[in-house]
Amino acid sequence: MYKLIKPLLFALDAEKAHDVSLSFLAGASHSTFLTGLLQSCFGNRVPDIPTRLMGLEFRHPIGLAAGLDKDARAFEAFSALGFSGVETGTVTPKAQPGNDRPRIFRLLEDEAIINRLGFNSSGLESYKANLKRRRTQSVIGGNVGKNAGTPIERAYEDYVTSMRQIYKLVDYITINISSPNTKSLRELQNAEHLDDLLLKIKETQGKLNKVSGRYTPVALKIAPDLQADELETICELATSHEFDAVIATNTTVTRPDTLLSEHKTEIGGLSGKPLNEKNTDIIRAAAYHLDGKIPIIGVGGITNARDAWDKLMAGADYLQIYTSFIYHGPAVIEKLVKGLRSRLDHYSCETIDEARKKLKKD
Ligand SMILES: Cc1cc2nc3c(=O)[nH]c(=O)nc-3n(C[C@H](O)[C@H](O)[C@H](O)COP(=O)(O)O)c2cc1C
Repeated sequence: MYKLIKPLLFALDAEKAHDVSLSFLAGASHSTFLTGLLQSCFGNRVPDIPTRLMGLEFRHPIGLAAGLDKDARAFEAFSALGFSGVETGTVTPKAQPGNDRPRIFRLLEDEAIINRLGFNSSGLESYKANLKRRRTQSVIGGNVGKNAGTPIERAYEDYVTSMRQIYKLVDYITINISSPNTKSLRELQNAEHLDDLLLKIKETQGKLNKVSGRYTPVALKIAPDLQADELETICELATSHEFDAVIATNTTVTRPDTLLSEHKTEIGGLSGKPLNEKNTDIIRAAAYHLDGKIPIIGVGGITNARDAWDKLMAGADYLQIYTSFIYHGPAVIEKLVKGLRSRLDHYSCETIDEARKKLKKD
């Protein structure tokens, strides 16, 4: 079905196409009939591969990455399409418009996207109102960032504010310090800022846990453009502060020589196929440093089951996609999970973890 709609969507400017699709899915999210229909046409075709991390149960290891449902308007529909988890956001405390348009570019020849959205967000109030209407049993994450006007020294205030507001509404919270499109944001990945930020976040989580009696896990989303020693330091800090997961990775500011599209020189973060190998290398290195103490959510350039399998075998415990969903539609979820299922069957394994242990031994 997406094959029929895609030429129409791709004839539109990339952000216009995004707005049209999201409005449709947001509308569908309000209707149990329409989400039921999406579930029977798409979601029910996706097999189960039970996956457990951060104390949460996922139906299978493929979720939707942050940035598509920034304001939590359409997560019901995305769940019904077959994603086992939907990471909503990035939401900022106050509403903000983001950067000037155009700010999303399709690199068709490269099956990639460059975006410089800059955290366009309706702000916490409407985000919360949308989450309060939640019906789905799928895992829903909330990815939080800082407002453009908040100085870097006070960034923690934005993260803490958002954590407090959404703590009871989502299944996990992601601290996004890796978007390339908000000035200085990635400086938060430097050790001197990060140690303090992670401490404040864990303190907030501890207090909220005490008051609410509920533990909402917190994940840290990192950039793919880190030097080896920077990645090692971040992994050490995530471990010592007992973060619940590391999400690797956001988009890259690098431009591989292989890029063909005329848009390759646009400023912003590159996602999709050209990010795949670099991302898998980061997952492998992070898995080495984290040494099984913290799970890894792998995201970056997954297009087919082989990419997904490689990342899981490199140490990821769960995966997310964004760009391949734009290029291939909901069928890509079924294709990925069926591909993983047949690889598990090939090795006579029930879970990804079992397969990883078995392949390590052999
Ligand atoms: C248009 C666009 C907007 C995005 N917005 C966000 C965002 O708000 N927060 C975030 O953490 N990641 C954001 N991302 C990054 C994705 O979540 C993901 O980490 C990245 O695109 C790599 O995955 P992919 O190659 O499957 O797209 C965005 C990506 C794209 C393409």
